[in-house]
Amino acid sequence: MKKLREIKNGDLYYNGYNLKELAKEYGTPLKITFLDVIGEHINSLKEAFNKAKNELGYTGKFIYLNANKANYGKEEIETSFLSSDGLETSSYYDLLLTTKMFNKHPEFKNKLIVSNGLKLHDYCDAIVDTYNQGYDIIDIIDDLNEYEYLKSKNLPIKVGMRIHLSSLYEAEVPDDRFGLMAQDIKYILDDIKNTKLILTTIHYHQRGFDYEEDKFKENLLKAFNHYLNAKKLYPTVVNFDIGGGMPLPIEENFNYDSFAKTTLSYLKELCEKNHLDMPNIIGENGKFSQKDSTVNIYKVVGVKNTGAYPWHIVDGSLLIALPEMYALGEPILVMPINNLDKPMQQVRLAGITCDCDDVFFDKSKGYFEISKKEDNYIGLIGTGSYQNSMNGKGGVHHCLLPEEKDLLIYTKDGKEVREIRHELQTIEDVYRIINFK
Ligand SMILES: Cc1ncc(COP(=O)(O)O)c(C=O)c1O
Repeated sequence: MKKLREIKNGDLYYNGYNLKELAKEYGTPLKITFLDVIGEHINSLKEAFNKAKNELGYTGKFIYLNANKANYGKEEIETSFLSSDGLETSSYYDLLLTTKMFNKHPEFKNKLIVSNGLKLHDYCDAIVDTYNQGYDIIDIIDDLNEYEYLKSKNLPIKVGMRIHLSSLYEAEVPDDRFGLMAQDIKYILDDIKNTKLILTTIHYHQRGFDYEEDKFKENLLKAFNHYLNAKKLYPTVVNFDIGGGMPLPIEENFNYDSFAKTTLSYLKELCEKNHLDMPNIIGENGKFSQKDSTVNIYKVVGVKNTGAYPWHIVDGSLLIALPEMYALGEPILVMPINNLDKPMQQVRLAGITCDCDDVFFDKSKGYFEISKKEDNYIGLIGTGSYQNSMNGKGGVHHCLLPEEKDLLIYTKDGKEVREIRHELQTIEDVYRIINFK
């Protein structure tokens, strides 16, 4: 995996770009999306798995899907669609967007669509429509109502079973509402032979921000036992879908080659022990595809002394920019992007909202380190997944603060392109949204 961060002469370079220089050129608050990073991440994971496959003689394929829910930017989904083997959808609306993307690229008609989530009739009907249009779609069944409804359509649609796994990450998800319980699985395994549906996939969602090998293997083994049972009855079961939750390159030294090798050799060993064909592995990657592509940059515009540490106020809202961090404790790197070689001081950061929760500092230390100089910029590194959906991109934000200028940087025909996707939001944009004429 390419190393994205580098410090040179006191400035942070990201993906080869001096972030302070970009901030000065385009102004702050600024959000920059490096679209190439998305394709590079996807391709490097596919390479790691293909290398492991060849080394181990693993006979199944590795199928990389982009989990759209991580970022609904058209450019982000399109970029990931081009490199990945298909798209994963999580709702009726997501499937509509996915078929629109497929229609835009008829040359990729054969890529895969995997549909997850709880499905009411609108979502099931859209799956049937997508199937009827000739797309390769797998519906991952999450409950029996969905199964019965789909079965009543009398069509040879490919389906999978999402296995309910009691979470090994108890602290994060005390209870998981997804997936089929043992009695539902048994019912489907007994019944599906009397239907036209084709069982192809065993699915579970490997959740968790941090990769821990023993927990990963434990989850995998639980789901594998369902693959074993299903495969014995139905040779059509060829896919083992591990969902999302791919380890993230937060630790820049994480070794994806060895992760791929560990995963495939464990699966190979289980298959050989049970005299089974090795399944295709499907990964539905949201954060892994999108997170690292985006950084936000703010300038320190004021200092205020009211407590133990001086408040350094930035020209944006940290709370709005990092909803996943504030709501779910997702780690996102917040750091100065310039003056990193200068003497430091201990401060706390705050956004320019009128909200006392709009603050940031290292909780374990009680402060944030920034240079003693005056022209300080702060970067939020890795805001590409989930932040946009959670903070309502293009919406009305806290204290009516304008949404950041939105800059895309990517390569086209070997040349660098810079494109302002949206200018800094204006108060007129906000009036339009709230219908204030
Ligand atoms: C079924 C399923 N697949 C994939 C994902 C994407 O997960 P991540 O963004 O951690 O890769 C999720 C996330 O909620 C999910 O529920």
